[in-house]
Amino acid sequence: MNHKKLFRHLVYLVSMLLVVGALYGLSDVLYAQMADTGARPTAFPSSPRPDQICLTWSADPQRTQTVQWRSSTETTAGEVAFYPVEEGQEAQQQVQAIRTVLKDAGVVNDPTNHRYTAVLEGLSPGTRYNYCVGGEGGWSDWSEFVTAPEGTPSFSFVYMGDPQVGLDFWGELLHSAFERHPDAAFYTVAGDNVNRGHHRNEWDELFQAAAGVFDRRPYVPALGNHDYSRQRKPQMYLDLLALPEDGPVRIGPEHAYAFHYSNALFVVLDSNASIRIQGLWLEEQLKNTDALWKFVIFHHPAYSSKANRDNKAIREGWGAIFDAYHVDLALQGHDHGYLRTPPMYDGKKVDSPAEGTIYIVSVSGTKLYDVADLPHGEKILGKTSTYQHIDIRTEGENTLIYRAYTIEGEVVDEVIITK
Ligand SMILES: [Fe+2]
Repeated sequence: MNHKKLFRHLVYLVSMLLVVGALYGLSDVLYAQMADTGARPTAFPSSPRPDQICLTWSADPQRTQTVQWRSSTETTAGEVAFYPVEEGQEAQQQVQAIRTVLKDAGVVNDPTNHRYTAVLEGLSPGTRYNYCVGGEGGWSDWSEFVTAPEGTPSFSFVYMGDPQVGLDFWGELLHSAFERHPDAAFYTVAGDNVNRGHHRNEWDELFQAAAGVFDRRPYVPALGNHDYSRQRKPQMYLDLLALPEDGPVRIGPEHAYAFHYSNALFVVLDSNASIRIQGLWLEEQLKNTDALWKFVIFHHPAYSSKANRDNKAIREGWGAIFDAYHVDLALQGHDHGYLRTPPMYDGKKVDSPAEGTIYIVSVSGTKLYDVADLPHGEKILGKTSTYQHIDIRTEGENTLIYRAYTIEGEVVDEVIITK
């Protein structure tokens, strides 16, 4: 090949690389613009009166409570009034909220909201509080929250797979869980909270459906691929929700976080972000805990319910860490079906939960896929939306009672583990 020909080849190669790069870079921008054009009126526009009241924990669950809500832009300030139920209204305090402006031009009938976030600090552990939120635009009704207890009392929590599609149904399922298990301490959702994460109108539907539950029990969400909605950052999720910032710095705040509740450790991971970086951080969380029970919550399952949905990198990257520190349950989503594995260790079935981790996939919305009969599926259910109630008993023998429920209250799966 002469020099001229070689030069022409090089020019061609570099041009192609530039074209592909430009197209790739552009496609993100184009997608975002295409997805955001067109009117997407919200069914639930904001008003001066507070709504979408939602509890999260952005700091210590024993001594703080984060409260968030929205109002229309006619309001300029907001506050939380609260008091411990036992002490009565004379002990009432107020905390001023921080106001942020939340814009989504596609929501043509309500493009800009004011979102309020207040972190109540200096609370007493294991204590029931009454609270309400508001300001010049009016006040909410009184609601309640309970701080995490000191010591290791019995408790329970609810885990749900993807809400994503069919948020009306999901809201009914959520309320059925709340009615059946009024003492469940919090609700963890394993990602794909909505279908298009950067569309605020979908979050409006989610918060509307959750009214009466998320204003009484904290929402503990994980990030799914739909919460990113093919963007580089799950910006709407980050803007809407105040979550702990104790995760690995290199993946950005609020993507992954951990907290203790009674005798259990909960680690929430972002399976869209670096497996390796979170693996190092996860190992630190598991290494430095005395918790008897360990739960990890993330979206893309390590053991999928269909062969073509395999996530080998997660199974290998995080599975080995679960094995090394004995994670009890991995609570996952993404596959739109129900699957529970037997206890797994090093990719293989083992005899008892004491030897391995049980991995669960579930779905709480109405987007349902078939489930394949795979060797790692000890219990599989196709086209079934469920929530899971996990009861941790500490009186006598330490026991975990796991049950999957349909909206009608039928128990479709159960696991009991004693330690
Ligand atoms: Fe997903």
